[in-house]
Amino acid sequence: MARIVTGAGTSATVPFDAHPIHTERLLLRPLTEDDADDVAAYQARPDVVRYLPWPERNAAESREHTRKRAAFTHLADDGDGLILAAELVGADGAPGPVIGDLSVFLKDRENAQIALGWVFHPDWHGQGFATEAATAVLDLAFGELGAHRVFAELDPRNEASVALCLRLGMRLEAHFVESEFFKGEWSDLQVFAILARDWTTRS
Ligand SMILES: CC(C)(COP(=O)(O)OP(=O)(O)OC[C@H]1O[C@@H](n2cnc3c(N)ncnc32)[C@H](O)[C@@H]1OP(=O)(O)O)[C@@H](O)C(=O)NCCC(=O)NCCS
Repeated sequence: MARIVTGAGTSATVPFDAHPIHTERLLLRPLTEDDADDVAAYQARPDVVRYLPWPERNAAESREHTRKRAAFTHLADDGDGLILAAELVGADGAPGPVIGDLSVFLKDRENAQIALGWVFHPDWHGQGFATEAATAVLDLAFGELGAHRVFAELDPRNEASVALCLRLGMRLEAHFVESEFFKGEWSDLQVFAILARDWTTRS
């Protein structure tokens, strides 16, 4: 069985199959095609996709995109990914809507490098849901997956995403200037990252 070996000498097993993760207010579980309507509610919004490599999608396009992303449930080789729906859990424990999703990509198995991405519906911004979900995903990455380094790439104009990285304890590692012609203009790219030892010793 292949293993990810981290610099600290710890390891985690791949292949890895996504499983549900409960947080205080959310259930993180593999995205399914049944989530397409909820996903469409945020994928259709220009403010949501502004800094995502996505166009604004209509309902049919969003369903097709969700159907494809629902296949991302397994990590084994470089390029594999998990797409986790962030489902709001009601006070009575009843399942609620999917209010966002997170991506976890195995970028480099040999070097235990994992990339994260996140998107939430604006109706649910500003309440710590993204922080809560991303914290659980970092626990997964540095726990079961044995990541050595987890990173996120973003446009520095995406202030909410920058703030999320900083709240999570990620450090700014790199700023590439006009490295991508994105949505009609030259755009900068920043890389934020956190190491396993930073995560385990954070206060
Ligand atoms: C990036 C994104 C997920 C961040 O969402 P967010 O709502 O700002 O982040 P959180 O859910 O963690 O909420 C943080 C806010 O809630 C507040 N908050 C309230 N309770 C909180 C709690 N328990 N924990 C953390 N923050 C809490 C924080 O103070 C912060 O408020 P502020 O925005 O006034 O500073 C969101 O902007 C988004 O989906 N953007 C569109 C998609 C996108 O661009 N994705 C990234 C591409 S790189």
